[in-house]
Amino acid sequence: MSAKIISGTETAKVIREELKAEVAELVEKHNVVPGLVTILVGEDPASQSYVAAKNKTAHALGIHSEQVTLDADTSEADLLALVDKYNNDEKIHGILVQLPLPKHIDEAKVLYAIDPDKDVDGFHPVNVGKMVIGEQCFLPCTPHGVLELIQRAGVETSGAEVVVVGRSNIVGKPVANLMLQKRDGGNATVTLCHTRTKDMEFHTKRADILIVAAGVANMIKADQVKDGVVVIDVGVNRVGVTDSGKAKLAGDVDFDSVKEKAAAITPVPGGVGPMTITMLMKNTVQSARQFAGLA
Ligand SMILES: NC(=O)c1ccc[n+]([C@@H]2O[C@H](COP(=O)([O-])OP(=O)(O)OC[C@H]3O[C@@H](n4cnc5c(N)ncnc54)[C@H](OP(=O)(O)O)[C@@H]3O)[C@@H](O)[C@H]2O)c1
Repeated sequence: MSAKIISGTETAKVIREELKAEVAELVEKHNVVPGLVTILVGEDPASQSYVAAKNKTAHALGIHSEQVTLDADTSEADLLALVDKYNNDEKIHGILVQLPLPKHIDEAKVLYAIDPDKDVDGFHPVNVGKMVIGEQCFLPCTPHGVLELIQRAGVETSGAEVVVVGRSNIVGKPVANLMLQKRDGGNATVTLCHTRTKDMEFHTKRADILIVAAGVANMIKADQVKDGVVVIDVGVNRVGVTDSGKAKLAGDVDFDSVKEKAAAITPVPGGVGPMTITMLMKNTVQSARQFAGLA
């Protein structure tokens, strides 16, 4: 059996079309233009390309987007003042500070300074807390993307054994939390694995849905999963260079062998990756609705 491929590229395309229509309606009927600002400190090439992709996508959907690039030696105080300026800018509904920040800046201090109502990355403790207790909030983009992929692929989560590998604050912990929420797309029995897990294979082999976010190329092999598993591979690992000089990427799951046992699987690239930026756009549109009293 070869698995059904859950394409993040295709799913993201569908959601982006939905968002484009929603933005057009917000503009026409309510004169509301969703606004996003991205703030980049320094010249890290990967961060530059992420920020460029976010602005390009925003533009394509009709979202007003501003991109601010600051020198690497910008002070923490200046960055906080900029965040405060956008907290009070009515044209802006979403503020994204691209991570990582230079070492002399306290990342938490900056993220906590963002108005939780404009925290479209979903990293502010107010939004994290609301997510945990199941209240309406901005969900962090990658876990939100994982949820959408699973739901839109028609995978039943209620009562399913979900195993998550990785417990980071941006992927593993929130994704595990979302899967156990008492609502559609949740209601799973969740196990969270990490480097201190004693017998990881015992857990991964029980999974009906296996979500891997460890950052270790090809670590999950076919003999660690059961027949018919649904696999969501969040990992993005640079494993070389393609003939055209681009980075060669691999997931955390050994795609070629695992796809022969799985019922469905996401590829890398083209799986969770395209969903992350799309969920940022979804959060920005949601924020604009909330500010306009339309949510
Ligand atoms: N597609 C996207 O949009 C997107 C977004 C974010 C991240 N990612 C990718 O997802 C991966 C994870 O990112 P992250 O930020 O969550 O990484 P992270 O902060 O480095 O966390 C990795 C987690 O995996 C666990 N882990 C590492 N090696 C393990 C092993 N051999 N066995 C069991 N657990 C192991 C770690 O356990 P300990 O806690 O015990 O150390 C940690 O909890 C990376 O490849 C990253 O590039 C993709």
